[in-house]
Order: sequence, then structure tokens, then C-alpha cells
Amino acid sequence: MRFTRLFTGPAKKAWAVFDDRTGLGQVLSHQLSHPVPNTTGWVGWSYAIGSAVLVAFILQVVTGVVLATAYVPSTEDAYDSLMYITDQATLGSFLRGLHNYGAWAMIIFIGLHVIQTYLVGAYKFPREANWLSGAVLLLLTLVLAFTGQLLRWDQTAYWSTYVLAAQVERTPIIGDRLADLALAGDTVGGATLTRFYAIHVFFVPALVFMFIGFHLWLVLHTGVSEPPQAGRPVDPKTYRAWYQKYLERNGVPFWPDAAWRDVVLGVGMVAAVAALAIIVGPPELENPPDPTVLQAYPRPDWYFLWIFAALAVVPPALEDLVILGAPAIFGALLVFLPFFANKGERSPKRRPWAIAIVMIAVIMVGTLYVAGERAPWSPYVDQPQLPVEVVAAPEKRALVAQGAQFYYQKGCQACHRMGNWGGLYGPNLTNVHERLSHEQIVISIINGRGGGMPAYAGNLTQQQVNAIVAFLEAEKVQRGEGEPPRDAGEVGAQAED
Ligand code: HEC
Repeated sequence: MRFTRLFTGPAKKAWAVFDDRTGLGQVLSHQLSHPVPNTTGWVGWSYAIGSAVLVAFILQVVTGVVLATAYVPSTEDAYDSLMYITDQATLGSFLRGLHNYGAWAMIIFIGLHVIQTYLVGAYKFPREANWLSGAVLLLLTLVLAFTGQLLRWDQTAYWSTYVLAAQVERTPIIGDRLADLALAGDTVGGATLTRFYAIHVFFVPALVFMFIGFHLWLVLHTGVSEPPQAGRPVDPKTYRAWYQKYLERNGVPFWPDAAWRDVVLGVGMVAAVAALAIIVGPPELENPPDPTVLQAYPRPDWYFLWIFAALAVVPPALEDLVILGAPAIFGALLVFLPFFANKGERSPKRRPWAIAIVMIAVIMVGTLYVAGERAPWSPYVDQPQLPVEVVAAPEKRALVAQGAQFYYQKGCQACHRMGNWGGLYGPNLTNVHERLSHEQIVISIINGRGGGMPAYAGNLTQQQVNAIVAFLEAEKVQRGEGEPPRDAGEVGAQAED
């Protein structure tokens, strides 16, 4: 591609001088016209998915930088500053929408990109490093999505961070430190928000820039993989020479012969994101996090929902294994794949297990996603809050109210039900004082219980334990008294609407 053709008159002259002094035009035109395999139809489109991820990332950087001019990363102001951005700032709501659906797009397209490159064996020789740097980019994208969620600083954001941190804590040996490092302390608070903010806007994006640069360099260096053909295995000894010849025969310049699809897909994606931002709008901010509010509804954004569902459906005995094992196995597979399978057939027709693995993964995530959507273990959203007045006698209210706070701060409701709120993983604690003596309750909390109840000894002061126990022992008079308790199935049905 000759850039001079884009200009006429004085602009052409100016460009010529600029190019002469900087040499940028030549470099660019050389890269843009590098030969790529000639592809058509849906195969051609599949080659544009990677560019779409890049476009989504750029969109995130641009919208993120603008949002950062008004967002205040402090517990007092984060929520209000987002309300301000949404309701008052010029185009603020649109920007939040762009950033939100841009994140969706980035996750969807990076997922598709991984599936597509895996299916056609693009990770094989000599593109192993492309795959590995892509695996890093996948991880970084997930970290961005997760940390971004907390910045909303509303109930959902707060509690889902809590629950995931509790999972991280289970990593053997370093779990506590890891959770400490992530949360900047042992609870989700102001320091956590600052830390997540720094990770979300400085640290991870800088790494993403680096790795995208590396990833793109590798694409130029090794050349885009040719569409695979059954019966044409990759042999590292002959592949490069063969690929050169292949390009001489079948190559077309990247711009414009192949790149028009990248442009169309990228522009289409941005248009879809903008349409969603305008029509559907940014995610509604729920109430700011407040430990005394009982209807905490710890559900992450959809792209993490299936992980939550997985955590909830595995039997407690296997939980540690699944929580730690599954990501470890998945990560190891991603990393080791190009080391032990970098030769041989690339065509999915000769690699039926590759198709099977993708199908199993998609079905599994899909099923868990649906399960997460109707989660009977999630608390029911529209319940009124239990005011302290109805749960305790006047002289005990202060202690009970404190206890309620600690109960939520320490994440008890993630596993336990109180009234109709909270998780179903542990036993319902509504009337626990009718089953257990005062001492038994205290000991359960401090020492934990074998069946998955963590020991809180190091995590609660005596005063906090007293308050929590007072809260647990308080007589709970619920609004809507006389209603039979909901069973799990019924709650599940309600959670759907
Ligand atoms: C990770 C999930 C989880 C968290 C968080 C959790 N628990 Fe538990 N808890 C359990 C499980 C599971 C059991 C049942 C253990 C067993 O099989 O005996 C249990 C049992 C109990 C019991 C005994 C109840 C009974 O009927 O036997 C009490 C009391 C209790 N938890 C209080 C708390 C308090 C208070 C907190 C917060 C400080 C808390 N739990 C946090 C999972 C959890």
C-alpha cells in the first residue's frame, strides 16, 4: 500500500517530507502489504476475530481513560461518582455503556479466538510463542474483567469479590497471603478498591499493551497460519520452506485483500456495542455496599457467573479439589499444549478430540451458566430488609446490629441462610439457637466444622464473636410472618423473573 496515493496537492507533499524524515510510511506500508494466505468465506472471517479483540481492547482503553477523568476510587465517593457519570455527565451514561459492552465484546471475541486457533491447530510449529502470549492475554483479560467489576462498588460487585476472595484463600500454603495481596487486607474495603483500581487501570493494561505488541510482532514474524488441510501435517523440519512457497503461490497482500474483513468486523462490533450502550444502557447501579442490608445478592457479571455456579454445585468434599484443581488443569493445558503437540495434523477433521474438547467445554460452561442464572442458592432479590427492631429486644439492639454487620462483613451469608437470604451451602442459621447451645454456636464459629465451615478463630475478635452470636441468637420476627419458608425450588423459580 502506498500512502502517497491517499493524499493530493500540498498534503501529498507534506506526507512525502514526513515519510522522508521519519521512514514511518515505508515501515507501515511494508507491514500492511505483507502476504497472507488467501482465504474466503467463513474461514476468511475467522481470521478477523483476533483483530476484533484488539479493536475491543482499544475501545476499552479510550472509554476507560475518559471514565477515569470522573471516577473517584474511594469507598466514600466511588458510588456517587458513578451516579454522577451516569446521570449528569455529558455522554456519561453512553460511555459507561460502551465500556461495559466493550468488555463483553472483548471477552466474547477472545473466547472465540482461543477456540478458533485451537480448532485449527494454529498453536503448532512455529507459532508456539503466539499461543503462549495469547494465553497470557486471556488471563490478563479475565483479571481486567474481574477487577473492573469491583470498581462499580455496589452490592453485587462487593459481594462477588468477597466470595471469589474466599475461594482464593483456599489455595494451600499461600492462600491467605494471596487473598491478602488481592484484597489489601482481610476484608473488602477502601484499600481493596484502591488496589483493584491500580490493577485495573495501570498494571494490567500496561501488561496487555506489552503482550499485544509481542503477539502482533509474532504474527508478522511467523506469518499467519494457513487454513489447515487434512493430510497435510506440520513437520518442523520442512514447514518454513513449505510455508514460503505456499505464500508465493497462494499469498495476497494483507491490505486490502484480507484486511477489509478485519475492518468490517471491527466497525460492526463497535457499532453493536454503541447500539447496546444507547438502547440498553449501562448496567444499573444497585445500592452501595452496606453490610446491614440483608438482600445482598452475590452474583458476578455473566462472564463469571458459571464459575460461581460451579462452586455452588460441587459437593463440599470435592470443593477444594475443584476450586483449585480446575483452574490449575485448565492453565496447565493452555501452557503445555504447544510443548507436547506442536507437530502433526492441524485439521480439525483429523483431530476429532479437539472438537470434542471444545464441545464439552462449551456445553459445560453453558449448563453452569444456566444453572447460575436460576441459582436456587442465591438469595432472593426483592425481599425487604429485616430492620433491627424486629429481630431483637431493645436493650440488645446495638449488639445485634453490630453482629449483623460482622455477619455480613465476614461473609457468613455467602454460605448460610438467614430468613430467606443467603447461600444454601451451609445449614440455615435462622433458628440455630434452637438447635445448638450458646457454647456450641461459639465453638462452631471459632473452630469451624469439618463439613466446610471455616474456622474463624484468627479472623474475629472476642467482641465480634459475641456480637455475631447475639445476632444469631436474636429472635427473628420476619415481615410476612406466617408464610411458610420457601423451599429451594420455589426460590429458584422466583429468581428467574
Ligand atoms: C464457606 C462457607 C461458610 C462460611 C463462609 C461460613 N460457614 Fe458456617 N457452616 C458452613 C458449613 C458447610 C457448615 C456445616 C458444617 C457441618 O457439616 O457440620 C457450617 C456450620 C455452621 C454452624 C453450625 C450450624 C449447625 O446447625 O450445625 C454455625 C453456627 C455457623 N456455621 C456459623 C457461621 C458464621 C457465624 C459464619 C460467619 C462468621 C459462618 N458460619 C461462615 C459453611 C460456612
